[in-house]
Amino acid sequence: MKQEYELVPHTILTIISSNQSMHLILSNHFTPMQLHHTLKLTPHHHHSLSIFAAPLTLTTTTTTMATHFQLSDASPSLPISPHRLLIVGPGILGRLVAQIWRQEYPGCEVYGQTATNNHHEELSKIGVNPSLKWTKDSHKFPYVIFCAPPYQSSDYLGDLRLAASCWNGEGSLLFTSSSAPYDCNDNGLCDEDSPVVPIGRSPRTDVLLKAEKIVLEFGGSVLRLSGLYKVDKGPHIYWLEKGIVESRPDHILNLIHYEDAASLAVAILKKQFRGRIFLGCDNHPLSRQEVMDLVYKSGKFPKKFEKFTGSDDPLGKRLNNSKTRQEVGWEPKYSSFAHFLETI
Ligand SMILES: NC(=O)c1ccc[n+]([C@@H]2O[C@H](COP(=O)([O-])OP(=O)(O)OC[C@H]3O[C@@H](n4cnc5c(N)ncnc54)[C@H](OP(=O)(O)O)[C@@H]3O)[C@@H](O)[C@H]2O)c1
Repeated sequence: MKQEYELVPHTILTIISSNQSMHLILSNHFTPMQLHHTLKLTPHHHHSLSIFAAPLTLTTTTTTMATHFQLSDASPSLPISPHRLLIVGPGILGRLVAQIWRQEYPGCEVYGQTATNNHHEELSKIGVNPSLKWTKDSHKFPYVIFCAPPYQSSDYLGDLRLAASCWNGEGSLLFTSSSAPYDCNDNGLCDEDSPVVPIGRSPRTDVLLKAEKIVLEFGGSVLRLSGLYKVDKGPHIYWLEKGIVESRPDHILNLIHYEDAASLAVAILKKQFRGRIFLGCDNHPLSRQEVMDLVYKSGKFPKKFEKFTGSDDPLGKRLNNSKTRQEVGWEPKYSSFAHFLETI
């Protein structure tokens, strides 16, 4: 019987042979539980396995992790499935991307690279093959999306370089950045082409701009996202929890629902752009006060927000991404925060 292996990153192969048989052990020691798959093989398989060139077919599945160990990068000559996707940072956004991707390309492989192994079991359950950050760039993917936020890493730019080097240059490489670097704080208009702050103004924007530069140099694209929200996460929830917030009420903020950010990211990935910068927002900027007024009027949140008390902190910006919509051929499901509130 012929057997074929596709190797998930970090899977370790150990071959133990005896006079009568050989055992192949697949283990992935980056998962919370050590996974060992022991296959009894007859000696005549030995040659095929040692060169990894013969087409062998096998899928092993573990009941504890629901992880498929499929080897394909073991030999560069084996074909890579055309829609194989690597999600670096499969958090809220990344998991939604995985969900849409799997709907678009049923049966395709989706891999998720995380900072810790805390969520590996959850990821396996939703069909994302988890691994920890890699130390080598030996695994290539036609589609790579980097949607890990900067705050969990001591070397965000290094992580980005590693992720970019996992891209085989075929489909798309996309980095989800932020609209924060747009240089506007007078509640003024701003679009894809507006200028960004210079390097050196703040560590927060520096890291994003440097990360963007890396991705663009690799030929990847950038999606600058405005404030992400869903029913239980976002500025409205944060302010409801606090009750009184020491920020000015007239600061304009820009929002996009997590589901829309994910559908936009997937639409960009599918179009295989090179070196482009896109903007993700719902084109309905609102002041902080307007957001909380809408929340109150919706009657859908039990907590009561009291007030904003600031008066001299910086104002915001009014984002418009008509250009992105036109070029990508995308529209949000939630056209505004008010529209979203009507749907819950
Ligand atoms: N939230 C916003 O309003 C906002 C606004 C603009 C842009 N963005 C951007 O949108 C993207 C998605 O945000 P999100 O809210 O979905 O994030 P999230 O849920 O906080 O995502 C966290 C995920 O990223 C993983 N991770 C963190 N650092 C990593 C690293 N260096 N390498 C690999 N994995 C790493 C975490 O691993 P563990 O599972 O181990 O924890 C987790 O899986 C981010 O790029 C963020 O910067 C967000």
